[in-house]
Amino acid sequence: MAGNVETDSPEAGQVILRHGAITRITHWSWAVALFFLLLSGLQIFNAHPTLYIGEQSGFEFKNDIFSIRAMQDAQGRVEGVTTIFGAGFDTTGVLGVSGPDTAPSYRAFPAWATLPSYQDLATGRVIHFFFAWIFVVTFFVWLLSSLVNRHLRRDILPSSREIRTIPQSIREHLRFRFRHDGRYNVLQKLSYAGVLLILFPLIILTGLTMSPSMNAAWPWLLDIFGGRQTARTLHFVAMLLLVAFFVIHIVMVIAAGPINELRSILTGRYRVSGEMPGGEFRK
Ligand code: HEM
Repeated sequence: MAGNVETDSPEAGQVILRHGAITRITHWSWAVALFFLLLSGLQIFNAHPTLYIGEQSGFEFKNDIFSIRAMQDAQGRVEGVTTIFGAGFDTTGVLGVSGPDTAPSYRAFPAWATLPSYQDLATGRVIHFFFAWIFVVTFFVWLLSSLVNRHLRRDILPSSREIRTIPQSIREHLRFRFRHDGRYNVLQKLSYAGVLLILFPLIILTGLTMSPSMNAAWPWLLDIFGGRQTARTLHFVAMLLLVAFFVIHIVMVIAAGPINELRSILTGRYRVSGEMPGGEFRK
């Protein structure tokens, strides 16, 4: 087990094996898969840029909670309007209407955020389903191996003693003081557990709920998520939370020392602060 040397700088410390091969391979596999899933998912969303709560959708049911549209105002100007729970926001330039003024594009998410960049639902679906299966297989490889090699229990799930250190860990993060002792801190554990054990299963299951063949095979999915439309909304919300996680994740990697961090998730090798009494520590 790693020592508890508290210092801002990991300089001159011992190099340990921090991440095992399966952690590294699965990490990069889902990072690549999620990149393609996000861009192709936004392409699919553009084909019908409204989200609903409930079993059905259509003009007769007033159950839409989110939409991105191009709308004409009283002066005939077309603007992008994003509506969240009935409140409309002008998002011209990014959402609803984007592209140069001379050749505006009337689409929910702009060309740079979708794959393909032009409107093409069929290709978007092919890309999405291809990477969805890569993502699902990767997730199960990670889950099984993490149960067997105890990575989940030892490195991801925080102990009750660690839970009590949350206030202290928040204070350390606010002061940008990080421990380089080879272990995840409690906030890291909670965020990884949230992503791996809540958001990943949620995005996979809500995705399956939208599939007609899965509706026939596993009809209980529709009951759990309250119908296809609610499943689609939850799928979108899980995507937004993963994007938020990604932004914070990258900021934390940079703040904690990008070279050491990146090397650890690429090669496994990580420089700790000072000596580690327990020798090498492998996740
Ligand atoms: C959507 C993309 C990504 C997701 C969902 C994600 C998620 C995760 C998760 C869950 C872990 C813990 C893995 C485990 O212990 O089993 C992790 C670790 C890590 N990730 Fe990512 N990641 C993403 C992209 C990236 C990128 C682009 C970078 C680099 C710039 C990165 C750098 C790291 C590093 C350095 C660690 C190890 C942190 C440490 O040892 O303290 N991740 N990531």
